[in-house]
Amino acid sequence: MNNNIAFQKCINPDCNTTYEVNRQLTKCEKCGNLLDVMYNWESYKQLKSVLLNAFSERKNDKGNIFNQSGVWRFRELLPFFGNIDNYEEYSKVLVSLDGAEGNTKPFHLSQVGKYVMGKVRFDNNEKKVIETSTELLSSDEQEFMRNNFYLQFEGANPTGSFKDNGMAAGFTHAKMLGVRKVGCASTGNTSSAVAAYAANEKWQAVVFIGKEKIALGKLAQTLEYGATTVQIEGGDFDDAMAQIADVASDINLYLMNSINPFRLEGQKTIIFRVLDGLNWEVPDWIVVPGGNLGNSSAFGKAFMELKELGLIDKIPRIAIINATGANTLYRLFNEKGLRWNKGHVDDKIIEEHYATLDKENIKAKTSASAIEILKPVNLKKALRSLEFTNGVVEQVTDEEIAHAKAIVGRNGFGCEPASAATVAGTKKLFEKGIIKLNDKVVGILTGHQLKDPNATINYHSDSNNIFANTPITVTNSREDIISALK
Ligand code: F0G
Repeated sequence: MNNNIAFQKCINPDCNTTYEVNRQLTKCEKCGNLLDVMYNWESYKQLKSVLLNAFSERKNDKGNIFNQSGVWRFRELLPFFGNIDNYEEYSKVLVSLDGAEGNTKPFHLSQVGKYVMGKVRFDNNEKKVIETSTELLSSDEQEFMRNNFYLQFEGANPTGSFKDNGMAAGFTHAKMLGVRKVGCASTGNTSSAVAAYAANEKWQAVVFIGKEKIALGKLAQTLEYGATTVQIEGGDFDDAMAQIADVASDINLYLMNSINPFRLEGQKTIIFRVLDGLNWEVPDWIVVPGGNLGNSSAFGKAFMELKELGLIDKIPRIAIINATGANTLYRLFNEKGLRWNKGHVDDKIIEEHYATLDKENIKAKTSASAIEILKPVNLKKALRSLEFTNGVVEQVTDEEIAHAKAIVGRNGFGCEPASAATVAGTKKLFEKGIIKLNDKVVGILTGHQLKDPNATINYHSDSNNIFANTPITVTNSREDIISALK
C-alpha cells in the first residue's frame, strides 16, 4: 500500500511536527497539541469535475458497499488509507457497517422552518400555540421555509447518530495498525457506535461512561452490541474522558474519541453530503451543536480542503450551539475573546477558565446529556473552524432545546435533545438578525429521537409545556372513548 499521500501533523504552526500515518497518537509528542490528518494531494487539484462525477455515479452503487456507504462514497477526500482504487484492495482495508453509514442528506422540514422564523409560537395572552398560515407569510418567508432552510438528519445512521461516520474512518485506521481492541469515553452515542462497529468487526470494545450520565436508549444499545461498559460512579463525561485518556496505553486500547484525528476524517463526509444534496451549491450557514467540538472541527477542515482542492469557492459560516449549562466555548469565544489567531491561541485564557471550573467544582449541567461537557477536547480545532468560516457561537437553555425538539417531532422526524440545540440556536440567531431571511441554512440533527425516550415522555407528560401532547386517559368503555374523542 502506498501511503505517501497522508501524514499526521501538529495543529500548532510554531511546532508543525509531522508523524507517519501508521501511528496511533492523540496529541503531538513535542508540544501536546492536537493532530490533523494531512494529505499530499497535489495530484487531486484540477480534478473537480472528475471527483464530482465519481461521487454522483456511485449513487448507482453496483452492489459495492463502499459506494453505498455515505462515508466511503467520498473516499478520495479522506484518502489516509493510501493510493488504492480497486474494489478488491480497499475492501481489505476500509471498514464499513456493511455500507449502512452516512446515508443521509438535507431535507426541508418546513414546520421547523416556520418555527425558526417565529411563525409558530406560544401566545401568552391567549395561552395557546399560534401558527401563521403559510399563505399569510411573505414571499421571502415562504421561500425560506420551502427552499432555504434544511436539516440533515444524522439520526438516520445505523446506530442512530452521526458518530457512525467517524467510526468508519477511525476503525479503518485501527485496522491498518492491526488493532483489535478499541474504546472511548462517552455520553452514549460514541459508545453505541464504537460498540456496534466492534461487534461487526468482531473486535473488543471498552467504553467509559459517567454513571447515570447517559440516556436510556444509548445505554441499552451499548450493552446489546456487547461493549465492556465501565460506569464511573459520581463521574461525568469529562471525568470519563480524563480517565480513559490516562489508562488507554496501559490497557492497550485504541481510542475512538474525537481527539483521534482519523475519526474526524469520517465526520467531514457529513459536509460532503450536505453539499452533494444541494448540488454543490454552498449554503450561507451550517448550524451544529457543540459538545466535544469534533463535528465543528471536522466541518471546518472539510471546508478548508474543499477550497484548497477547488471544489468550492464560497465558505459558509459555521454556527456552533452550546447548551447554557455546558457553555465553555460560548464563554471563551464570546466573553473572553479567545481566538484561533492563526494558530497562536492564548493558552492562558483556557487554563485560567479551567482552573476556575476546578476550584469552584463546577460541573456541566444540561438535559441535553450528549453535550454535557465542560472541557471539550477539540476546543482549538473548533476555534480554527470559527476563524476560517467567520463563524459564531450561540447558547440555548434547556427549555429552548425542549421546545425545539418538540417541533422537530411535530415535523415527523424527531431528534434527541442535543440535536434540537441546532434548531433552538438557529431560531435565536434568526431573532438576532445574524441569520437572515435570504440565507440558505443547513442545520445538523445529530441524533435520533429514540435515544432519549425519558426526555420526550417528560416533556409531553407536563401539560405546561407549550407543545405538550399529553395522553388522554379513558376507562375501558365504548361510551367513555367516544365522549373523550368527540
Ligand atoms: N449531538 C449528539 C447527539 C452527540 O452525541 C454529541 C456528542 C454531540 C452532538 C456533540 O458533538 O462532540 O462533535 O461537538 N456526543 C459524544 C458522545 C460526546 O460521547 O456520544 P461534538
